[in-house]
Amino acid sequence: MTYLTDKSILNTAQLIDWYHLNKRDLPWRLTKDPYKIWLSEIILQQTRVAQGTSYYLKFTTNYPTVNDLAEASEEEVLKDWQGLGYYSRARNLHTAAKFVANEMGGIFPNSYASIRELKGVGDYTSAAIASFAFDLPHAVVDGNVYRLLSRLFGIETPIDSTQGKKQFASLAQTLLPIDQAANYNQAIMEFGAIQCTPKTPKCHTCPFSISCIALKSDQIERLPIKEKKLKQKKRYLNYLILESDDELLVNKRDGKGIWQNLYDFPMVESATSISERNLSLSKDFQTLLSGSEFKIVVSSKERKHILSHQILFAKFYHIYITDKLEVIKGNFEQIKKTELANKPIPKLIENYLREETNLLSLLGSLN
Ligand code: ADE
Repeated sequence: MTYLTDKSILNTAQLIDWYHLNKRDLPWRLTKDPYKIWLSEIILQQTRVAQGTSYYLKFTTNYPTVNDLAEASEEEVLKDWQGLGYYSRARNLHTAAKFVANEMGGIFPNSYASIRELKGVGDYTSAAIASFAFDLPHAVVDGNVYRLLSRLFGIETPIDSTQGKKQFASLAQTLLPIDQAANYNQAIMEFGAIQCTPKTPKCHTCPFSISCIALKSDQIERLPIKEKKLKQKKRYLNYLILESDDELLVNKRDGKGIWQNLYDFPMVESATSISERNLSLSKDFQTLLSGSEFKIVVSSKERKHILSHQILFAKFYHIYITDKLEVIKGNFEQIKKTELANKPIPKLIENYLREETNLLSLLGSLN
């Protein structure tokens, strides 16, 4: 397949016309405030528009300015982010807000390079904010843009290779009409999101079907090409919900690894899926519970949860401690069950608690 940089393959005026006719009404498209645009872009890196909208509204309501976000505690920000996963994005968001508030006088940076210096902001986000808020001519390249350009221009260079990244960035920038940066960037992403979709794209109603190289050569399903297959590690987590009548033990996760600064429960990790009996015979379990009188009252089915680089298989055991919870060794926090709903917790645990227990709906909680 040949790769042509022929600009006639994508008529950008036509693309922008298509955008005006077909665009979705999305709240972040009604503002030029770089802070709000930044919030929307960070949220949308993590989720789809349908779910992202409520998070965007929550963040812009709870933190109307970058100073408000900077002044919040990390725990509040993580709690509001709960459900989106990948919490390092939320921590970076908070760090960057504090930087803008404290080091830049609360004024959001207004050039591509200065926006790009904010923690958690890469080429894509910087181009999005620079163009949407300040009409600066920087082309965005996200998954939608890779897909659309690779198909239209028939580009087979892997999108996750160094060469591919350069090639697509350069093509997107060449196509960008200097005086229409915001509309072009919104349009090309919107086209990828609703017309040139990953599965069953709407080629029969596509305004570019005549020039689309992938359509001509029956390569729509093959493009874009990725060279690396993501390796996902499997992990088996056995969570112990150690309870007395009205209290339980939580674990504040620290250090590196997943879910930094979120709360989970005391946990025994195993190399494979293990039975309740083998769990209770394991050394980690016995160390944790040695010296206490306990009874395993409920054990859950195994739940699967997919993260970007790991597949988690989790089982939850509710263990009633007959004597005092303090006898359990470890660095755990003893809290009232009613306080659990106010702690930031990973989605895997939230889903389990919501679906299988009443621990998130106990009287006195905020949720
Ligand atoms: N995904 C990422 N940025 C977006 C935007 N501005 N509008 C719609 N979807 C998006």
